[in-house]
Amino acid sequence: VRVTVVGGSGFIGSKLVAALRQRGDEVTVTGRSAVTLAKRFGEGVGRVEWDPVQGPPPAEALEGCDGVINLAGESVASGRWTKARRERIRASRVEGTRHLVAALAAASDKPKVLVNASAIGYYGDAAHRALHETSANASDFLAEVCAAWEGEASKARAAGVRTAIARFGVVLGREGGAYPLMSRPFRLFVGGPIGLGRRWISWIHLDDVVGLLLHLLDTPTADGVFNGTAPQPVSNAEFTKELAAALKRPALFPVPPLALKLLLGGFAAVVLSSQRVLPMRTLASGYAFRYPTLRGALEGLR
Ligand SMILES: NC(=O)c1ccc[n+]([C@@H]2O[C@H](COP(=O)([O-])OP(=O)(O)OC[C@H]3O[C@@H](n4cnc5c(N)ncnc54)[C@H](OP(=O)(O)O)[C@@H]3O)[C@@H](O)[C@H]2O)c1
Repeated sequence: VRVTVVGGSGFIGSKLVAALRQRGDEVTVTGRSAVTLAKRFGEGVGRVEWDPVQGPPPAEALEGCDGVINLAGESVASGRWTKARRERIRASRVEGTRHLVAALAAASDKPKVLVNASAIGYYGDAAHRALHETSANASDFLAEVCAAWEGEASKARAAGVRTAIARFGVVLGREGGAYPLMSRPFRLFVGGPIGLGRRWISWIHLDDVVGLLLHLLDTPTADGVFNGTAPQPVSNAEFTKELAAALKRPALFPVPPLALKLLLGGFAAVVLSSQRVLPMRTLASGYAFRYPTLRGALEGLR
């Protein structure tokens, strides 16, 4: 199978590309810098320089490919959310996906499937409510970006390309994302819950992110939205308890939400939102989580 991974040089993409190659697929990765791609990937991986915001991809990005996985997007996690940054967060996803899908639709030899990343930011801050794939989107900045991003991806369906969208939760992996940031205070003996610890956290182990992307790529009936979150979301208090236990550290110091707002800027809205997401369609599609429980996932990361 030939697979093109758009934005494949990042945290999720690097692990995904390795998994695709491991099982014998031919992989092409696109990224904004040929130099970065060359550093990240060896001879065995096709590399195409493309900035998704600028316009449609060059023809060789999609030539002869059976499936496309789109992961590209400006990081939301670090630095201030200035006006320019917000625009990059939006355009890298919405305009980038629009350009990708226009090229898919125009290709004479179309890929069979587009698997597109999205995020549970789609649902906004939802207190204790259970969130399913069919729940409505919120109206804050990230929720609107996610809805528009998914809207652009979904246009591939009209061109006859099966379209599966994975709404990922907090991805737990050793080498990037939230886990190193969350575990650092605990390692320094100053970890603790956020406020009263009542907010819900919908997490997923990086191996399951890769597993789910492959499952959506391979399963001919997988179409529509799939929550990329483990079947057992937990409260922040529970997460704190499990993380402290896994790291063999105490959890003594509650973090005041205001401190996070000052420290994290726009990203604080993500950290402080409560999201209890359940992967109903994902489980119904036949995906079996390798790490269904937080304890197992954290043990796998230590
Ligand atoms: N990690 C998580 O916890 C999480 C949770 C929910 C959803 N997601 C979504 O899943 C996708 C992949 O996540 P990730 O953690 O692997 O992301 P990542 O490492 O931050 O970035 C993925 C790729 O996006 C490309 N990119 C970055 N800024 C860009 C810009 N301004 N314009 C165009 N391309 C840009 C980069 O490729 P080049 O520099 O090579 O161009 C990068 O390798 C993202 O879209 C993210 O929103 C992630």
